[in-house]
Amino acid sequence: MRATVIESTSSIPIPAHGGQLRQIAAQFDIPQEQLIDFSANIHPNGPPPSMLQALREAVSRPEIVRDYPDIEFTDLRNALAAYVQVEPSNVVIGNGVVPLLEATLRAFSVQSCLLPVPAFSEYRKTLARCAVEIHAFQISSDKDFSIDAEQLMSEASLRDCDAMLLANPQNPSGISWMQKDLRKLVRYASEHNILVLLDEAFIDYLPEESLAFLSPSISSLVVFRSLTKFFAIAGLRVAYAVAHAQASSRIQGNVATWPVSTLACVAACHAVKDVEYSSHARTANQEELAWLRDRLIGIGLYVYPGVANYLLIRLPAGISAVALWRQLITRHCIVVRCCDNFEGLDGQFIRVCVRRREDNLKFLGALRSLL
Ligand SMILES: Cc1ncc(COP(=O)(O)O)c(C=O)c1O
Repeated sequence: MRATVIESTSSIPIPAHGGQLRQIAAQFDIPQEQLIDFSANIHPNGPPPSMLQALREAVSRPEIVRDYPDIEFTDLRNALAAYVQVEPSNVVIGNGVVPLLEATLRAFSVQSCLLPVPAFSEYRKTLARCAVEIHAFQISSDKDFSIDAEQLMSEASLRDCDAMLLANPQNPSGISWMQKDLRKLVRYASEHNILVLLDEAFIDYLPEESLAFLSPSISSLVVFRSLTKFFAIAGLRVAYAVAHAQASSRIQGNVATWPVSTLACVAACHAVKDVEYSSHARTANQEELAWLRDRLIGIGLYVYPGVANYLLIRLPAGISAVALWRQLITRHCIVVRCCDNFEGLDGQFIRVCVRRREDNLKFLGALRSLL
């Protein structure tokens, strides 16, 4: 492989998150609508058409925007409870995973948290905002980011943590835990009074791996779920947590009143009831994920075995992620997630969302021409 994408890139600011197209368009002087976004992991076939139709009908009724949302969020709570098969009293409503995480840290007065990295960068910011002492735990890329549950348990005890914050699947690696390991970890944590904060923002792609069904009976497990990615409604801001009923009302008490708008509630209720959308989204993603991964490996790249709708790629030695990120934008209008600002990753990694075939082909063509 010829390393043509080596250049000095020191002064280029890399966005802290995926999906920052307005800033990138301005930075590179490219019309925003020409950019193809592989950096935010949003399902490409969403949002569900049934949900868009429900929204169109809702906006024709003035009371939808005139009146306050139901303060109890009864319809939304019921719809989400039915979707994850728990009781409505186990569901906490919020306008994103971060506000729910923050509310949970406050509700449990968390002091010290084990944080496996690399991870979603908002975790560290949220923990810091809540004055929680952070104990980062490096997960090795050499072993495909697999986490040794035993080691995590002993680290948490050794460092006297009262919480650990995990994601399944992980971000940015896309790697999923073995459910038996995760259950062992939850059991151990419960015996040692350690709170497990489990972010399942991408679990809708593999719902059978979710531990949300366990949290109603285990008070030391709080599971965070989001409608952002799978239902492609990042702009509406709807997320929820699943917890033991008592914990759930304490967490809800730490979320600001009326976190979700009536329109967003209408959308979310329709989204989770659209079984056809969910089943098609899973199948389509599984097929395209495997197809894209095989092609990327075929180009000679190291691709981690991600299970959600994104893939983490390690670039060959001598090729800088920042330089590749920049050239994909300037030469091909393609935006990937440059991962060199993830804690615990060096400058050799990019992450890409699985999009539709025609876009994935453009991405592969662009990569081949640059590498
Ligand atoms: C692992 C993970 N959790 C949560 C979120 C944010 O979810 P939400 O849009 O519900 O706040 C992200 C967004 O990138 C993420 O990667």
